[in-house]
Amino acid sequence: MHAMRFESVSKRFTMGHDRAKSFMDLMLRTLRPGSRAPREILWALKDVSFLIEPGEAVAIVGRNGSGKSTCLKLMNRILTPTEGALDIQGRVAGLLELGAGFHPELTGRENIYLNGALMGLSRREIDRRFDEIVAFAELERFVDAQVKFYSSGMTMRLGFSIAVCVSPDILLIDEALAVGDQSFQEKCLERIEQVRADGVTIIFVSHALETVRALCERVLWLDQGRLREDGSSDRIVDEYMASVHAHEEVLAE
Ligand SMILES: Nc1ncnc2c1ncn2[C@@H]1O[C@H](COP(=O)(O)OP(=O)(O)O)[C@@H](O)[C@H]1O
Ligand SMILES: [Mg+2]
Repeated sequence: MHAMRFESVSKRFTMGHDRAKSFMDLMLRTLRPGSRAPREILWALKDVSFLIEPGEAVAIVGRNGSGKSTCLKLMNRILTPTEGALDIQGRVAGLLELGAGFHPELTGRENIYLNGALMGLSRREIDRRFDEIVAFAELERFVDAQVKFYSSGMTMRLGFSIAVCVSPDILLIDEALAVGDQSFQEKCLERIEQVRADGVTIIFVSHALETVRALCERVLWLDQGRLREDGSSDRIVDEYMASVHAHEEVLAE
């Protein structure tokens, strides 16, 4: 049985321009009712298909805006596809965009329980993992402070720690790791390696291509919402780097 399957998945966003941004905007609209800007439609993912086996470590690369985070949000069931079908097997935990999944008014402790519950853990199970989560995140002193007072690094540490400590079947990591300091980044990578050795499926979005090469055997390359390549990390990382460099040279001319 596969860990996840995307079948011709497309995701469309509508970019709303019709909310008044200021009082002047509002006035203008009242005076000129026909001046509403049209809504813009954007396909963040278009006809994306792939199959991932349990225990695979797969990276997703691509330029900004190519649909990587959208892909992870679909995997995490934060979003649903506009078209196509996807099938995800097992418990998914992840470190998505910074702060996603945290309630800023709640404390670190409350957020741990909230997130654990959302991932289907019982109170008991969370109790059992609580100390490990706090210790790994190095947040002992701040666990009873509201998350809105955390730095971005602290928020990231808590998110990562929860994700790896809830025994997921699939672990999603979006760029956010880059927020941590060098030593925490290394600690995270070591932990990801460990989780991987335990057979957890890993989906890793990163611009750190050498880390991608070291951590993942396979790479999906997204380009403007389409799956441009799907293959061994050595081959795809080289091709992707060549394409990025070619693009930079064009820009420099
Ligand atoms: N909630 C949203 N509403 C409207 N557009 C969105 C939304 N989320 C993402 N997009 C758009 O979808 C495209 C893909 O975004 P994203 O998946 O975040 O790309 P990446 O993570 O590769 O940088 C971008 O053009 C982005 O502006
Ligand atoms: Mg992103």
